[in-house]
Amino acid sequence: MRQSPLVVVANRLPIDDSVAPDGACEWRRSPGGLVSALHPLLRHTPATWVGWAGGTGPAPHLPDVDGVRMHTVPLSADDFRDHYEGFANATLWPLYHDAVEQPEYHRRWWDAYQRVNQRFAEAAAEVAEPDGLVWVQDYHLQLVPGLLRRLRPDLRIGFFLHVPFPPPELFMQLPRRAELLRGMLGADVIGFQRAQAAHNFAQLVAKVLELPATDRQVTVDDRVVRVGAFPVSIDAAEMAALAARPEVADRARRLRQDLGEPEKVILSVDRMDYTKGIEQRLKAYRELLASGDVKVRDTVLIQVAVPSRQRVAQYQILRDRVEHQVGRINGEFGRVGEPAIHYFTQPFDRAELTALYRVADVMAVTPLRDGMNLVAKEYVAARVDDAGALLLSEFAGAAAELEQAYLVNPHDLEGLKRELLAALRATPEDVTTRMRAMREQVRRHDIHAWARSYLTVLDTGGALRDRLVPA
Ligand code: ADP
Ligand code: G6P
Repeated sequence: MRQSPLVVVANRLPIDDSVAPDGACEWRRSPGGLVSALHPLLRHTPATWVGWAGGTGPAPHLPDVDGVRMHTVPLSADDFRDHYEGFANATLWPLYHDAVEQPEYHRRWWDAYQRVNQRFAEAAAEVAEPDGLVWVQDYHLQLVPGLLRRLRPDLRIGFFLHVPFPPPELFMQLPRRAELLRGMLGADVIGFQRAQAAHNFAQLVAKVLELPATDRQVTVDDRVVRVGAFPVSIDAAEMAALAARPEVADRARRLRQDLGEPEKVILSVDRMDYTKGIEQRLKAYRELLASGDVKVRDTVLIQVAVPSRQRVAQYQILRDRVEHQVGRINGEFGRVGEPAIHYFTQPFDRAELTALYRVADVMAVTPLRDGMNLVAKEYVAARVDDAGALLLSEFAGAAAELEQAYLVNPHDLEGLKRELLAALRATPEDVTTRMRAMREQVRRHDIHAWARSYLTVLDTGGALRDRLVPA
């Protein structure tokens, strides 16, 4: 087995086994923010990515992706149901997102979580070079740092949580809370999106494990574990370059024509997830149409919502409700050739998505809770023309950085309507001033700056850091 100096361990590989319309297997970029963040970062580095390729059954052998070695971890049908859909996405995901849906606790799911974490730890142990660096990602794999340390004490181990880390009142619900905290503490560095999450973690470690803990470090078994906030980001330069390509600008112009040259285009791009606030947003939009503050002829809403975790009941219910709502709003307010909402459930390629960003006068990103939300940052980076207003939930991690957005509490329907109207009616000067400041923020705090700040703490020698993200 060939070994690498840097190993990334994430539930998903950057490519996903999807089925093409003709039934053939097709490899596509995986959904979600984790892959969007890490994929551009690792390109052309001597790294191995340990992860699951989608689907169940034996692990397929995958070629390198942009020079990064793929090491596939298989999931059986039981693992998929009990680890991925169960403990990861029906226990931890809702609990970590303010319990906006009820988390479920089942002992069988916990057994599967342990089993799958063990498998990922063994795979990482196999492919990491002596004294190498292993960077474990996200809530599916919180036990991996502890398990891996037992297998390979020579390694430097990092853990990064892409989603929020909840306050003690919520986390304390977890029947196996002590094991989860101990698993994370196997790492040398534990990174969160926001300082509040690091604070929640320190409080829990002190309370549940009775260890000395501050928001910056925890001492466990004579080891010091560093804790901190490292807000994740995007490859802003790459997004700006794509947005500036003439064919993308042309495509944006054609999209506007195809939409009937409306005065204003509002865009939302989400995974179909109950944390994203899609229903609240559509409700606000419906009320604005009903009151006449927004008119179908002048304003167009494009809602992109790619189905996600489709066998989990709460996701099925959400999709049905959203589609019912879209149908109802179009039925009530649409006109021939002029729907009130243009609704898509398809994945788009990067150029098409970027053209959509360029055509949107208002980007509405209003999750009920979100670790970061990279769509907000992608929109900002794509506005090389310094135009476009961002309507952003104060419960998205991105709100801490994008202060010039129109910030909203998505639970407050009146506030949501008011800020959406403010964004639609803003003067071009105001829009430009805000966008310029946000673009500068995303440009300076891009994915390379994120990796550099994390690896400065994790890779104490700095050799790998300098190779991965030159200063
Ligand atoms: P999450 O990680 O919860 O899905 P983020 O906003 O952080 O939310 O990341 C979503 C990522 O998925 C972004 O990089 C976005 O561009 C991408 N994405 C979302 N919808 C689509 C789509 N329809 N087609 C292609 N990419 C999409
Ligand atoms: C979020 C999570 C990622 C996950 C992604 C897509 O971004 O933080 O870990 O990969 O959603 O979800 P999925 O269940 O399709 O992997």
